[in-house]
Amino acid sequence: MRKLVYIILAGIAFIVACTKESPTPESRNPILPATVSRYDSVAGDVPFDPWDGFQVDNHKATLGRVLFYETQLSKNNRVSCGSCHKQAFGFADNLAKSIGFDNGLTKRNSQAILNAGLQEFFFHDLREEHLENMVLMPIADHVEMGLENKDYMVAKLESLPYYRNLFLQAFGDESVTVERISDGLVHFIRSMISVNSKWDIGNGVGFSNFTQEELLGKNLYFIKFPCSSCHGGDNLMGGMSAAENVGLDNWYQDKGEPGLDPVLNVTKNGWFKVPSLRNVEVTGPFMHDGRFSTLEEVVEFYNSGIQRHPQLSFMLRRGNNGGFFDLAEFNEDIIPNQETGIHPLRMAMTQEEKQALIAFMKTFTDWGFLNDNRFSDPFIRP
Ligand code: HEC
Ligand code: HEC
Repeated sequence: MRKLVYIILAGIAFIVACTKESPTPESRNPILPATVSRYDSVAGDVPFDPWDGFQVDNHKATLGRVLFYETQLSKNNRVSCGSCHKQAFGFADNLAKSIGFDNGLTKRNSQAILNAGLQEFFFHDLREEHLENMVLMPIADHVEMGLENKDYMVAKLESLPYYRNLFLQAFGDESVTVERISDGLVHFIRSMISVNSKWDIGNGVGFSNFTQEELLGKNLYFIKFPCSSCHGGDNLMGGMSAAENVGLDNWYQDKGEPGLDPVLNVTKNGWFKVPSLRNVEVTGPFMHDGRFSTLEEVVEFYNSGIQRHPQLSFMLRRGNNGGFFDLAEFNEDIIPNQETGIHPLRMAMTQEEKQALIAFMKTFTDWGFLNDNRFSDPFIRP
């Protein structure tokens, strides 16, 4: 009898201990600066408008920061945006495929987040133009965060006391709505501006801050090889053509951007967003499926590995004498004989050139951005 009482008492003690240990929302308050951070300005003179006219509100961005790292926005409170978009990796993931709330793997490689104002389309297949819609998708996504019911999402945030003041500061009253959640996330994401790399500084001082190797790499990137025709402009990304087929494979399982190939008039296969190369030093693994883990592998792919895909970008086809824009050869390629008509560029890089290209791409890294407290996880104790 006495034994039984002990067992029951031990059982009760065990249950009490367990309930105590299960993380209650109250035990994880975000730690925010006493005065609101300035999300509406960047250090230094930037010769272009990285916000593209968008007026960032500091209080909305602050709310967005908390939401970005809010695990309660996932079905089982395990995953936040920040789980797959990690600051140290340029807000990309260091895994080829990211792990969702229920341990499922994402279909594609998580993308870096930066300079959203300079981007027209989001996702590897460009499927979304409006950040306002985009930011709520991962929350409802079955693999990523799994919280489909919007009313439940609102109710969950309403039950967390620290949101009252955040919503009040951002919108003038405490009420939580789906639109306001989206708005907060949009203001935070639009404030994630990365314009202070060695490359940006070099642009202002005639590249006097560059090493010989970096200068060589810059020449290769802009002149000898066609890199800048795709990864160019202020944001080192696709301008005229936002998606391209780079010939990773002869046929792509993941079709990428939908629509018709403008030349062949067949369904597009293997066209993916031309990513910004800002912070590329830390955003690996690379490509939409994370197939390359190092920049060395990416460069070797461009050097010798481009496949004869019938829809291969013209910028990666061989022209005469190493010229990249020889129309005669392009016309030959357009002829329906898709098997033999494609001549992928073979760049024949020397070892020195490969290394210089990589050294140059590393000047795109913005260490200030990667270490900026305004973008860090507020739930982590300092
Ligand atoms: C489980 C991992 C995961 C989580 C959680 C996640 N993402 Fe993503 N994110 C991805 C992947 C993978 C892609 C690329 C998807 C694709 O192209 O199909 C992506 C793409 C994006 C992009 C597009 C970037 C570009 O340049 O086109 C943005 C912006 C983004 N996510 C923001 C968010 C926000 C905001 C949240 C939280 C509400 C979030 N993500 C949660 C994995 C995740
Ligand atoms: C025809 C346009 C085009 C040209 C030219 C081009 N790229 Fe790319 N690049 C792309 C596309 C598209 C992707 C993404 C492919 C994917 O996701 O599967 C990419 C991806 C990359 C990546 C990986 C980025 C990431 O975040 O995953 C690097 C690095 C890169 N390119 C460097 C270069 C270099 C260096 C050159 C010149 C030797 C070059 N590119 C030439 C279109 C191009």
